[in-house]
Amino acid sequence: MKPKILVTKHIYPAAIDILSAAGELEYNDSSAGLTAGELRTAVAGARAVVCQLTDRIDAAFMDSGTDLKVIANVAVGFDNIDIAAATARGIVVTNTPGVLTDTTADLAFALMLAASRRVAEADRFLRAGHWRQWEIDLMCGHDIHGHTLGILGFGRIGHGMAKRARGFEMRVIYHDMIRAEPDAERDAGVTYVSMETLLRESDFVSVHVPLTDETRHLLDAATFALMKPTGVLVNTSRGPVVDENALADALESGQIASAGLDVFENEPAVDPRLLALDNIVLLPHIGSASINTRTRMCTIAAENATAVLNGERPSNPVNPEVFKRT
Ligand code: DGY
Repeated sequence: MKPKILVTKHIYPAAIDILSAAGELEYNDSSAGLTAGELRTAVAGARAVVCQLTDRIDAAFMDSGTDLKVIANVAVGFDNIDIAAATARGIVVTNTPGVLTDTTADLAFALMLAASRRVAEADRFLRAGHWRQWEIDLMCGHDIHGHTLGILGFGRIGHGMAKRARGFEMRVIYHDMIRAEPDAERDAGVTYVSMETLLRESDFVSVHVPLTDETRHLLDAATFALMKPTGVLVNTSRGPVVDENALADALESGQIASAGLDVFENEPAVDPRLLALDNIVLLPHIGSASINTRTRMCTIAAENATAVLNGERPSNPVNPEVFKRT
């Protein structure tokens, strides 16, 4: 009998083709997703789950699926999954790193440009019929080229930012819990600094850390107080890394100049104080949203799931310690 595979939300058809060949699909082909109760019902009897970052995958969900072997998340981040609970149950969790690096770095750079050069604000201004003539100080913002980019979290996407920044002749500094090797720093053209130095010296702070207990509200009132009044914050990682209330205070008071957010503390809800501001660009979590990349994320998740079903090691386990137990 073919194993049951639960697909919790709509994914690109190429991934459905891979999964259909490997098992019997229970496919919720909808963008709405399932409630926690519906997820628990749907997982009964499933050996594999292909899920997304909007699905809360907790111990209760895992215990509703008696024979669950693999949870394949269609995302690089996996803070929606209780990894310790999965590991304790011998369930492999996989993600989709690598493929979305450049697409996400592209969008983070776009946010930097949009926030500093007031692109979205100027578009709103023009559409509202306010444009009368060329004016010397109309929609003037701040330059990116020749300025300092501070990268918080120097993983794959952080490296992608550094690469792009070179083309804009920026000075690039970074901070991470783990310092890169000297060769890697030299190749990337970056300088390691403390978090405090990064905040004080950067014209642009771009956040690329995963969401963990340590990084929740990493950017808060105290850190905004260290940034330049001309400083721009960009976040394409996870919303709760930034204290949105403190960010609204900092933007309203002019403590920092502007921000670009692709992620929010309580998605899809956006703080009304942020919505009311002109000096922030707000996007609906589309960092990896190119057709090629999203298609590939889906097929990688499908390949990870089918590898485990076939008794093979998947390419992207996030809890590889599960394999040591067997
Ligand atoms: C991820 O993969 O974690 C992004 O947030 C969505 O692409």
